[in-house]
Amino acid sequence: MTHRPSQEDLSVSHPVTGIAPHGGTLIDRLASPTQRQEFADKAEFLPRVSLSARSLSDLQMMAIGAFSPLTGFMNQADYDRVVSDMRLTNGLPWSIPITLPVTAAIADTLQVDTLVRLEDSNDQFVGVLELSQKYPYDKEKEALQVYRTLDPKHPGVQVVYNQGEINLAGNIWLLHRDPHPLFPAYQIDPARSRQMFQEKGWRTIVGFQTRNPIHRAHEYIQKCALETVDGLFLHPLVGVTKDDDIPADVRMRCYEIMLEHYFPTDRVILAINPAAMRYAGPREAIFHALLRKNYGCTHFIVGRDHAGVGDYYGTYDAQHIFDEFEPAELGILPMKFEHAFYCTRTQSMATTKTSPSTPQERIHLSGTKVREMLRQGQLPPPEFSRPEVAAELIRAMQPHTGQA
Ligand code: ADX
Repeated sequence: MTHRPSQEDLSVSHPVTGIAPHGGTLIDRLASPTQRQEFADKAEFLPRVSLSARSLSDLQMMAIGAFSPLTGFMNQADYDRVVSDMRLTNGLPWSIPITLPVTAAIADTLQVDTLVRLEDSNDQFVGVLELSQKYPYDKEKEALQVYRTLDPKHPGVQVVYNQGEINLAGNIWLLHRDPHPLFPAYQIDPARSRQMFQEKGWRTIVGFQTRNPIHRAHEYIQKCALETVDGLFLHPLVGVTKDDDIPADVRMRCYEIMLEHYFPTDRVILAINPAAMRYAGPREAIFHALLRKNYGCTHFIVGRDHAGVGDYYGTYDAQHIFDEFEPAELGILPMKFEHAFYCTRTQSMATTKTSPSTPQERIHLSGTKVREMLRQGQLPPPEFSRPEVAAELIRAMQPHTGQA
């Protein structure tokens, strides 16, 4: 029988190094000074590929080990298995394809078994791909399997449909790990977060993914989780999001405000998650959990419609998908929360698990509703949002008064 780890197992099995990264080793693909020099010497002769914001983010995530065990963009075998079975060819769970798609015209200019110069949108040389394979793929299959829809209006599917038709595969190197232009103080890469957890003596750490401004339901589930573990790793996603999501700088300021007023700062670390958002709901919940495992978390919060968008996923699909894996093969425990709201009967945050309220006694606003209110200059109510956060949001979201 497969051994299922208990909470205690996960927290004590690696007393010195913390929880093991996915696949056992924290990947480091940052070029050494010697490699950097070698690449620089060859740079002008290498064929070039310009990276989208998502691919640039994927490159960085792989280099810093956040996508361990990946060392590069997926080859066809891994891609196929991930799309069909949510596993790498070595059997490890992995739910989202990490690919480098280009047009056939670009692919034709590149030769397998050579180096490719990877550039950002400013034509800066940012990394190297050891091109090992070029392969076509089925976009509709990827859409249906990963995003569970063929609808081109789904923001993740839209990206797949608009991207190139050939995937480039191969190991990567990142030339420099630059400080984040907006949030240098919060750029805490996996090796560092692991070290910080050790220094703080935390053996159980819960990770929190978010792409929205913090509201009271977020705060409630974060604190419920923190009641049972040593530390909380607040890890807002600051990579590419869809246009109508609230910008990352505004969201980060809201977190700073919350930490100042409402959290015990010795129990919480705020750090940025530089990943791009896929909006893949259940599949992305698994992916988000594996990332946080690589950052050293032992637990991961999955609430209602995690990483969802519109009505594409059932409210708790992102929780049910964890049942498709043995806990030991994921190696990080999901902490599942029901839809939280403010309950006027008990005058506290709650879920239907803990409150006898009728639907009329529950205050909850959808993200869309809140964005609409903010645009019209209306403050979200204190039952939904802490007043300091509401004030910051309204300031930032008003035309002409918000920061760039
Ligand atoms: S996400 O796309 O990053 O998942 P969001 O920032 O809204 O979006 O959610 C962050 C986390 O909080 C997710 O795990 C989500 O399921 C959870 N969550 C958001 N709102 C609620 C709520 N009202 N009740 C329970 N969980 C919630």
